[in-house]
Amino acid sequence: MLFLALGVLLGLVASASSLDNGLMRTPPMGWVPWQRFRCNTDCKEDAENCISEHLFKTMADRLVEDGWRALGYEYVNLDDCWEAKKRDAQGRLQAAPDRFPSGIKALADYIHSKGLKFGIYTDLGATTCEGFPGTTSIAIERDARTFAEWGVDMVKLDSCFSSSVTRAKDFPRMSTALNKTGRPIALSCSWPAYDGGLPPKVNYTLLGRICNLWRNYVDIQDSWSSLFRIIQWYGNHQDVLQPAAGPGRWNDPDMLLLGDFGLSLQQAKVQVALWAVLAAPLFISCNLRTISDEEKSLLQNPLMIYINQDPLGIQGRRVIQTHLLEVWKRPLVNKQYAIAIMNSATKGRPQPFVTSPEQLGISDCKAGYRIYSVLERRFLGIYMPDALLRSRMPPTSALLLLLRPLC
Ligand SMILES: *[C@@H]1O[C@H](CO)[C@@H](O)[C@H](O)[C@H]1NC(C)=O
Ligand SMILES: *[C@@H]1O[C@H](CO)[C@@H](O)[C@H](O)[C@H]1NC(C)=O
Repeated sequence: MLFLALGVLLGLVASASSLDNGLMRTPPMGWVPWQRFRCNTDCKEDAENCISEHLFKTMADRLVEDGWRALGYEYVNLDDCWEAKKRDAQGRLQAAPDRFPSGIKALADYIHSKGLKFGIYTDLGATTCEGFPGTTSIAIERDARTFAEWGVDMVKLDSCFSSSVTRAKDFPRMSTALNKTGRPIALSCSWPAYDGGLPPKVNYTLLGRICNLWRNYVDIQDSWSSLFRIIQWYGNHQDVLQPAAGPGRWNDPDMLLLGDFGLSLQQAKVQVALWAVLAAPLFISCNLRTISDEEKSLLQNPLMIYINQDPLGIQGRRVIQTHLLEVWKRPLVNKQYAIAIMNSATKGRPQPFVTSPEQLGISDCKAGYRIYSVLERRFLGIYMPDALLRSRMPPTSALLLLLRPLC
């Protein structure tokens, strides 16, 4: 009895080890400009696509009017290049006056008025990656207060031009400073990515206590090779990464490329399938004015979002890897499972694939499983644990399955 009580107690302690701001109990969803708009500050020549209050208001409008907000895409975040080249006379960060003439507080108010949340970006170096004023050690408390006054809901703290020593000191300090403002503000830590992403240099226990999410690995670029490289890294290091994630603390494999230039529609399915199973943050980073219906339909797929947002918050794992195919598996509430099957081969012929619930290690429910092919929006039928499920997978594509037990 005592041992049982102790076990329960230890269990509680372990599960309470995430940042105590009550935020992001499921992976955050929203829109960020970086992949599509980068550091475009040229509002004279490119007014519709430069980093400006006009761009963020327009994207907030699209999120509301095109059905994104209703599905959970709620954050609208600034990335690098929103700032003026200098702090103001009181030493506070300020927005570029020509591109954000109304100021950041007004932009945050606009975004809140649409029922959305507002995120901001800064960096621990003397400057940000793109050369705008950074948040050095002396500015941490001041910048945290400024963000709270503006109504910021999330801070992404980057690490260009900082040292390992500075990061080890200042990420925890920013977490404490945000807490002290009294405003619940989520913290996204671009920290492990700058220290190789792995122990002993990276301490995931500590990250889980001070950050809501963190970028582990290289920046995603607009290509299949970049996407594939990130997926491989997550699979190869899952024994370290998978236990680090949970409600309130997420590994962030980086932005979604859908709607941009680099992925085919089949490759776009790989990213949404894997990001759902990885419990990854879903930050769209495309031009919402021009996204295709097919890509929109993938990002707005209700069962894909249902899987991503599962309340248990257990990150999936790669359970099968051959030279062509990978199978990733994520347990969900009520003994449901999500399975992502990726054909990473570039041989130009659909690859036959046969499996069964049992072969995937899912056999508790002898009465069988209802299986949905999520991205095809198709109910495949009821499968006994040993029933075979056959499929043909195009090159560089994925299937996302949801298994619901009849028990
Ligand atoms: C600050 O931290 C305390 C203790 O961990 C927590 O109870 C509180 O909700 C936090 N406040 C904010 C605004 O994050
Ligand atoms: C990692 O951080 C936790 C929480 O701060 C700490 O208790 C633990 O000792 C650290 N682990 C290592 C190996 O430094």
